[in-house]
Amino acid sequence: MDTPLSDYLYTARQVALKAGEVVKEAFYKEKEQKTKESYADIVTETDQAVEKLIISLLKEKYPTHQFIGEESTAEGKTVNWTDAPTWIIDPIDGTSNFVHSIPQTCVCIGLSISKQIVVGVVHLPITGQTYSAYKGGGACCNDQRITVSKVKELKKSVVITEAGNSRDPQILATKISNFHRVIEASHGVRMIGSAAVDLCMVASGSGEAYFEYGIHIWDFAAAGIILTEAGGVLLDPSGGDVDFLSRRVMAACNQDVANQLSPLLNHVEFKRD
Ligand code: IPD
Ligand code: CA
Repeated sequence: MDTPLSDYLYTARQVALKAGEVVKEAFYKEKEQKTKESYADIVTETDQAVEKLIISLLKEKYPTHQFIGEESTAEGKTVNWTDAPTWIIDPIDGTSNFVHSIPQTCVCIGLSISKQIVVGVVHLPITGQTYSAYKGGGACCNDQRITVSKVKELKKSVVITEAGNSRDPQILATKISNFHRVIEASHGVRMIGSAAVDLCMVASGSGEAYFEYGIHIWDFAAAGIILTEAGGVLLDPSGGDVDFLSRRVMAACNQDVANQLSPLLNHVEFKRD
């Protein structure tokens, strides 16, 4: 018999809570940091240790499953995402928040089966919020049901986005022009510093939409299902279907807000994952 999705979620939550203890302990200490693709793309020893911990705990329970992890994916390498059950892991999303002692930092664990995200947990160990969802089961934060905002107009919306880790002048210029148009058309723009937290905020009605260019599958797989199970829409910024390897995403509390946001965005091209 197939394992119920709720069982996978239970395990993912337990593992995320354990990983969160390690993140929390390190949060209050001096952190050593290294950089990856740009000086603003940071990794710490804790990111690497937590990813190893998550993979080893999940492997014990599901030895045949596959893994895609931020820190175990070599830079610039294509992601090998198959139909097999695959755990998609970001040990610390919001690493720069973690390094700068900003509490919006989280452990993300998602599960895909046949390339559909079916389970997601986003755990913020510093604030004590644990967002979770499985396909068809609704979304929760600490066991309380969450739902998206009912606002239907972009001009009455707050839109969350991120500048991202690239410091390429052309990429930044396009992003800033997007921010400009979205600020003009809405109640304002926020940058929280973690793609997963941004999506969980929209999922729980704190803000109406989110978009970003340059993210990776591990930044938004787990939070993506939390958003859709809370009633939101997860799309490509063009308005088409979301493509988890395309390095771009748009989320909204409903299709109306998405339809108003999409035409304002100039697309930024990143190499596919
Ligand atoms: C980053 C965060 C950030 C987003 C970047 C991500 P990391 O993930 O989600 O908000 O703007 O695109 O790479 O590096 O902290 O795991
Ligand atoms: Ca991340």
